[in-house]
Amino acid sequence: MIKVDLIAGARPNFMKAAALCAVAPQFPELTLRLVHTGQHYSEGMSDVFFKELGLPEPITHLGSGSGTHAAQTALVMERYGTWIQGNRPDMCMVVGDVNSTVACALVAVKEHIPVAHVEAGLRSFDRQMPEEINRLVTDAIADMLFVTEESGVENLLREGRDREAIFLEGNVMIDTLFRMLPRARQLRTWSTLGLQPKAYAFLTLHRPSNVDDPRTLAEICEQIQWLAERLPVLFAVHPRTRARLDALPIRASFPESVRLVDPLGYLDSLSLVADSRCVVTDSGGLQEETSALGIPCFTLRANTERPITLTSGTNTLIAGDWQKFRMLISQLVDSKDKSEHEPIPFWDGHAAERILAQCMANWTRGQVVHS
Ligand code: UD1
Repeated sequence: MIKVDLIAGARPNFMKAAALCAVAPQFPELTLRLVHTGQHYSEGMSDVFFKELGLPEPITHLGSGSGTHAAQTALVMERYGTWIQGNRPDMCMVVGDVNSTVACALVAVKEHIPVAHVEAGLRSFDRQMPEEINRLVTDAIADMLFVTEESGVENLLREGRDREAIFLEGNVMIDTLFRMLPRARQLRTWSTLGLQPKAYAFLTLHRPSNVDDPRTLAEICEQIQWLAERLPVLFAVHPRTRARLDALPIRASFPESVRLVDPLGYLDSLSLVADSRCVVTDSGGLQEETSALGIPCFTLRANTERPITLTSGTNTLIAGDWQKFRMLISQLVDSKDKSEHEPIPFWDGHAAERILAQCMANWTRGQVVHS
């Protein structure tokens, strides 16, 4: 029997952890123990995902909460370090790129516990992004690197990681999307918000680079106003963004066609994305989800760590080029909706099974011994 701590701390981790928990019963030799670090803790940022995604009760809740990067990372490290003293796992599995990911990976590796990183190898090449630092550090120390797209393999090889440690197995976030899509579609959340399917834009924003500087945020708000004259906008507002918007004078002048709502649960969010005309976002996960669904996505960033969404998916980087944004939106509004798209290799709804099977195979062969 192999005991694996599966670490989940912040909103995007929960969808990934859910895919792994859902298939764990297929592996009777493996006990997956969900560890909630408490990086996200509100009902809307954490609890709702547990209920909707059928996540098991965590074996422990570390209650780390919000704070500076240093304080938050340190607290997760300290509390996870204490937890494993009395409850040592055989392996620590971290997902994504949040502070909890790097914190637990660091703790485990120093305790000589093998670390598996799910969603390894993604690189934006932008070290201003806190997540990029988390990715670089986690991938430098993890023993097994589970990659979602080919670019991840290339990045890890270039950084000197051993080919034997890299496994291109697909995208667990898309596993959860396919599993939950029928339920989400039934919800028709747009109807409760007075919207028509394929006739609204779904907007999310939370990156510090977009929301923390009032001038950048005001510029984005101006573009949202322009967009809302062409398509009603449903804006699901992250707590970080809510605080920054409240401090801006422009917020009061959002037209009625910009609808602001609190962060949404997984099913409502998926229902709204799946039936939207387009998505405007700075989220990494939404770039992937829209690509899997064939929904046009306009990403308000200069780079993406998920380049396959540009080449095989439906994603376009706007990078502050508002002329391009306006041209693409105008074209979209004037054209018929067509949701055709190429399937992305390995994004087939079965990544989690392959990942756990690989973990078991390596464990049995004795290859996951931390060096
Ligand atoms: C974090 C992740 C980011 C991820 C995002 C998804 C890092 C470095 N960043 O950023 O990668 O895309 O989560 O949401 O790990 N807050 C609440 N309730 C909560 C959690 C936070 O109200 O449950 C508020 C707090 O006021 C906090 C603010 O949101 O100060 C920002 O939260 P924080 O965890 O610092 O970073 P995120 O921007 O959420």
